[in-house]
Amino acid sequence: MGISNSLNSVIPWRPIFLLMLLLLSCNFSERLIAAQDVEIVSSCSRYKKSVFDQQDGYSFLFPNAPISYKILDTCHSYTPLIVDGTPADPKEFPHMARLGNRNDNNVTNWFCGGTLISNRLVLTAAHCLYSESGAINVVRLGELDFGSEQDDAQPEDFGVRNTTEHPDFKYPVLYNDIALVELDRGVRFSVYKHPACLPFNDGDRYESFIAAGWGQTTFAGEPSSKLRKVKLNGFRNNCLAADDVEELPSGYNATTQLCVGSARSKDTCNGDSGGPLLVYHEEYPCMYHVMGITSLGIGCGTPNVPSLYTRVHSYLDWIKQEMANIS
Ligand SMILES: *[C@@H]1O[C@H](CO)[C@@H](O)[C@H](O)[C@H]1NC(C)=O
Ligand SMILES: *[C@@H]1O[C@H](CO)[C@@H](O)[C@H](O)[C@H]1NC(C)=O
Ligand SMILES: *[C@@H]1O[C@H](CO)[C@@H](O)[C@H](O)[C@H]1NC(C)=O
Repeated sequence: MGISNSLNSVIPWRPIFLLMLLLLSCNFSERLIAAQDVEIVSSCSRYKKSVFDQQDGYSFLFPNAPISYKILDTCHSYTPLIVDGTPADPKEFPHMARLGNRNDNNVTNWFCGGTLISNRLVLTAAHCLYSESGAINVVRLGELDFGSEQDDAQPEDFGVRNTTEHPDFKYPVLYNDIALVELDRGVRFSVYKHPACLPFNDGDRYESFIAAGWGQTTFAGEPSSKLRKVKLNGFRNNCLAADDVEELPSGYNATTQLCVGSARSKDTCNGDSGGPLLVYHEEYPCMYHVMGITSLGIGCGTPNVPSLYTRVHSYLDWIKQEMANIS
């Protein structure tokens, strides 16, 4: 029996080992947090708590028992994504915005997607500000199916106070394809309408992403009335498809763009221009990070031909500066 027992009695290796592990992991998570933007991390938690943490009062079953409170976390995950596009569940993408132009006859043409990132700001693609359909003057939040009033949704239209494109965006060239739309009033957050979080990292570590939108479901096809979602794969730096694209004279820029697509063909078109490329939050299964903005679809529905997304992480300073401007 002797050996391990006697060792144990001489060196308390187990506690030392555990302590070392603890120190190592503390160090590691501290470094992770230091690399992340404290402001972005804390506003992400705040958004989640404002919608998903319910304070419930309860009391023990004896007379004059004090009322205690507990936090009920209603944040849960949705049905797992399958590769081919499918309709989104109600409340699954509460940050989804659809952007359009409403004319003098009150007819609305919806032509771009966007992502709510605060109570006032919607993130979208800068090229959406150059639509033939006119200026963006209406934003719908809380919608699921544009063709139904009976769907489990709480659609609400907002006017637009201001739009700002990135100063280095030079239409029709699609580098720096990022813009912000300021709503005419604050959004009241609910399970139907609340922001997505900004990225905690540049996105290179993810193998797969989720795209959502009302965009066409096949190349040159009709937009869908229902919000749809699709799972896509990161192509990392293997983005040769972007080499012959007129809108990108220097090809794919790995610092400012994400190259994402699918090896399958069916139905894996990107969502609307301006819509989000998402990953799940690591701690909160009900929350997402907007890692990319749909910028350029090269070959919708063609296997292995990716689309290009603006890499949101490389524009965090600009976004934060614009956020500070309006608040
Ligand atoms: C314009 O259309 C919107 C949405 O369809 C509707 O809510 C609104 O009442 C309409 N406004 C007028 C002036 O008709
Ligand atoms: C719109 O936003 C831009 C950029 O933040 C700012 O310079 C401009 O003053 C804003 N315009 C209005 C009317 O708020
Ligand atoms: C990518 O974009 C960044 C920022 O605009 C720029 O500094 C860099 O030179 C570009 N890289 C290439 C390879 O064009």
